[in-house]
Amino acid sequence: MNKVLVTGGAGFLGSHLCDRLIARGDEVLCVDNFFTGAKRNVAHLVGRPGFDLLRHDITFPLYVEVERIFNLACPASPVHYQFDPVQTTKTSVHGAINMLGLAKRVRGRILQASTSEVYGDPEIHPQPERYWGRVNPVGIRSCYDEGKRCAETLFFDYQRQHHLDVKVVRIFNTYGPRMHPADGRVVSNFIVQALRGENLTIYGDGSQTRSFCYVDDLVEALLRMMDSEAGFCGPVNLGNPVEFSMLELAEQVLRLVGSASQLVFQPLPSDDPRHRQPDIALARDKLSWEPLVALEDGLKETVAYFRHVLAHG
Ligand SMILES: NC(=O)c1ccc[n+]([C@@H]2O[C@H](COP(=O)([O-])OP(=O)(O)OC[C@H]3O[C@@H](n4cnc5c(N)ncnc54)[C@H](O)[C@@H]3O)[C@@H](O)[C@H]2O)c1
Repeated sequence: MNKVLVTGGAGFLGSHLCDRLIARGDEVLCVDNFFTGAKRNVAHLVGRPGFDLLRHDITFPLYVEVERIFNLACPASPVHYQFDPVQTTKTSVHGAINMLGLAKRVRGRILQASTSEVYGDPEIHPQPERYWGRVNPVGIRSCYDEGKRCAETLFFDYQRQHHLDVKVVRIFNTYGPRMHPADGRVVSNFIVQALRGENLTIYGDGSQTRSFCYVDDLVEALLRMMDSEAGFCGPVNLGNPVEFSMLELAEQVLRLVGSASQLVFQPLPSDDPRHRQPDIALARDKLSWEPLVALEDGLKETVAYFRHVLAHG
């Protein structure tokens, strides 16, 4: 049994991670400022032995006694991270400094939820971890991309300078129940539009591709990385390497929802990458991990979740 801090624990990924940690008998302190997360995501855990929930903004220091830290706090979708870009960078950078400081004080192990966005608009495809990326430092996505890059730098400097036990994962598009219905991400957008009988919005011509990892697979990888051998710091790509075009995704969603909605096309937002696909050879090798859930199965669960949310609020 470990005492585990999950920052961003009331968010989409964080709440599923809390579920798994509690199920395996860990003690969990879930910390969140509820910017994009919600109490309802962890309401079923409140009152369970070993689970605590604390409202706190990680841009401020936190003094608690824990052994392991999963640092997931950060708005993850463009509509949310662009709402207050300065706060987004603060969350990534000041938040990382505060959580690394905490890990140093308690001599604990700390995992950073980084992102495929550190690769920016990549020139190579798929992206292995050794690729350094192609990121615009002054664009509207930079608060997130550069904030996450700086957080990675801090993690590796704490490791080199203070011999801290760090782990860094780069998460690619992940989807599933408890995604925010208004996060503007393509999976939630398509499902919500299809369920409401609205037209599905495709940005560009729909030929751009993404790979989608189901949340259960991703959380399994987070746990394996946290439990991985000492000295293995990453960064490690985590995602599903199977690519789908936006048009293919839209068709699957329409079929699963049973909707007759049409597709409407709008211009691509700036700095939107054409392709995004993880090279997960390192995760396969070091974590013996690869995604198991097929897109259709994951979409069915996600459609069922959104159907419930739209019907019951
Ligand atoms: N979901 C994905 O596809 C994806 C892809 C790449 C990286 N990630 C990373 O994984 C992490 C979790 O993402 P998610 O999809 O669950 O997003 P999310 O928005 O659902 O969760 C983030 C959580 O962090 C909280 N938060 C934000 N700022 C905070 C602050 N200053 N202090 C305390 N809490 C704060 C939010 O309220 C929310 O509960 C993020 O760091 C994100 O960058 C996610």
